[in-house]
Amino acid sequence: MTFNGTYVVITLLDVNDRQDIDDRAESRSYIVADRKSGKAIIIDAVIENVDRDLRTIKELGLTLAFAVETHIHADHITGASMIKDRSGAQIVYGGGAECVVIGADLFLHDGKDLHFGNTVMKALATPGHTDSCTSYVLPGAVFTGDAMFIRGNGRTDFQGGSPEKLFDSVRNKLFALPDDTIVYPGHDYNGRVSSTVGEEKQFNERLKLSITKAAFVEIMNNRKTPRPAKMDIAIPANMKAGRS
Ligand SMILES: [Fe+2]
Repeated sequence: MTFNGTYVVITLLDVNDRQDIDDRAESRSYIVADRKSGKAIIIDAVIENVDRDLRTIKELGLTLAFAVETHIHADHITGASMIKDRSGAQIVYGGGAECVVIGADLFLHDGKDLHFGNTVMKALATPGHTDSCTSYVLPGAVFTGDAMFIRGNGRTDFQGGSPEKLFDSVRNKLFALPDDTIVYPGHDYNGRVSSTVGEEKQFNERLKLSITKAAFVEIMNNRKTPRPAKMDIAIPANMKAGRS
């Protein structure tokens, strides 16, 4: 749990750790709770973890207002619709997903705010991993989904992915945030919870400031990454906010 201004961030690790069978391993979900009102959101819930996540929200006495998605995931099915059915929370996708996703209550376009209690979270369109990726910015923190990981970044080889767009999203949008902004990624494969924008400018393997756009594009275009095992099930389900 991290205390920061009006809100608290609770990092939820994926309970599954068998990446060889089910490569949703190391997905990260987050509860963000407004400290005064107890209104909360959950970011990138995983369907298999909904019981655990709702139990946590109940135990902490929070009221879930929104289930928020950073993008249309290929590696796991979102828990958003199950959470909506069980808690009444509204489903939020980034604005770029509006023409392809059904079942969301709200599409938060670039620069638009989501209010819960006294906490305000802003959408930041960060395409490149997929063409509709959105990061979400709070005062002092950013949830980057798969646009930027701790010392890494998401693949760019499907779902409208583009290394050129990803480079521009990270350099022009994420790196424009203050250096001490805490970075919460959509995955981490090395047991890390958070980073900062300043750290990533210096140490991100492929996106640090010393790397050129041309070099980044070449690295990404030469990567060979296996297809996510659940991709053919996950993408269609996530285009319906997690309903199968
Ligand atoms: Fe992803």
